Amino acid sequence: MSLDSYVTLGRSGLRISPFTLGTMTFGEDHGWGTSPAESKDILSAYLERGGNSIDTANIYTNGHSEKIIGDYFAGKGSLRDRVVIGTKFFGNLYEKDPNGGGAGRKGIMQQLENSLRRLQTDYVDIYWLHNFDPATPIEETMRALDDLVASGKVRYIGFSDVPAWRTAEAATLAEFRGWAPIVGLQLEYSLLERSSEGELIPLAQAKGMGVLPWSPLKSGFLSGKYSSGRTGPVDTARSALVGAPSQSDYIVIDALNEIAAEAGASPAAVALNWVNKRPGITSTLVGARRLAQLETNLDAFAVTLTDAQRETLDEVSAPTLNFPAENNRTLAAMLAFAGATVDDQQTIVSPLLQTNPTRY
Ligand SMILES: NC(=O)c1ccc[n+]([C@@H]2O[C@H](COP(=O)([O-])OP(=O)(O)OC[C@H]3O[C@@H](n4cnc5c(N)ncnc54)[C@H](OP(=O)(O)O)[C@@H]3O)[C@@H](O)[C@H]2O)c1
Repeated sequence: MSLDSYVTLGRSGLRISPFTLGTMTFGEDHGWGTSPAESKDILSAYLERGGNSIDTANIYTNGHSEKIIGDYFAGKGSLRDRVVIGTKFFGNLYEKDPNGGGAGRKGIMQQLENSLRRLQTDYVDIYWLHNFDPATPIEETMRALDDLVASGKVRYIGFSDVPAWRTAEAATLAEFRGWAPIVGLQLEYSLLERSSEGELIPLAQAKGMGVLPWSPLKSGFLSGKYSSGRTGPVDTARSALVGAPSQSDYIVIDALNEIAAEAGASPAAVALNWVNKRPGITSTLVGARRLAQLETNLDAFAVTLTDAQRETLDEVSAPTLNFPAENNRTLAAMLAFAGATVDDQQTIVSPLLQTNPTRY
């Protein structure tokens, strides 16, 4: 697999690379990002290797990330049309304007116009709802997004960080009203954050939504820079934002570092390879503050793990999921119940009934 092994995003005809370039680090507004010049080198390196999918958001470095991308494609002819640019709305960039962000119709229209201006393009390929807006009726958000698709300013719609129940409601509404469907979900997903396996990933698989995992290196914790035995400073710009790994994180980090050494690969490449091969995953959002980090991360395609190594990573990072995931897993044995009804006096083999014969 490589960046030009394009895959369709969910149940749509949009083809994207198995790694999407994350650009949250582009721009120096937050003090921990990448300069415009190095951001452009990162874009070039990604595109030269066949990458075609770029992810940004209005809120990233207060619009600077979008502007860097717009500046990059400006004057490069039809190159913009050959890539898939996704951006997000919700974050409010305008102090004292209550409709400067959010998921209401007025806010969405305004945010899109501002993103198009910064990106210097007429359309966005994927327009993502960035976060859950509990105050706005979901009908309003979905109808406004459908209007944008009809107008040609947006090609596809995705949801990010929205609870499964609300996402399912929105998807069902769109299906029955004939509105543009949700074709992708952005979720935090890594060896250190697997709780989306309970509800959101099964929802995506059932409803034809491609999953784009974000923070696949847990903001750098899984990049090889950390280990329980390490002392001294770590070369990172994010520690003020994300702190340091916890004791339980180090159990996963140490196991990853060990398997990476065995496999002759970097921990970052192994962690990204693991994420990208998980069920339901379409395109992993790769983040890099430096060009060299991107190069290391793209080596994930060259990683080969044995079944035993993959199982070790699965087990050491196994999540505790919310109800009813575990209940359903343990009751899977109830499938043996099929065909054994009380009506025809067949022997009932369910373990539940064996331990509680008077249940009925
Ligand atoms: N939808 C959402 O809510 C949401 C949220 C977050 C992100 N995203 C998207 O997902 C993308 C990726 O997220 P992320 O940036 O958090 O991903 P990540 O891969 O978990 O973290 C990236 C950070 O890890 C460090 N790193 C990466 N590769 C490295 C390497 N090879 N060696 C050493 N350090 C390395 C760098 O930080 P340092 O060098 O500073 O340590 C880098 O900025 C973002 O750009 C954005 O597009 C979406």
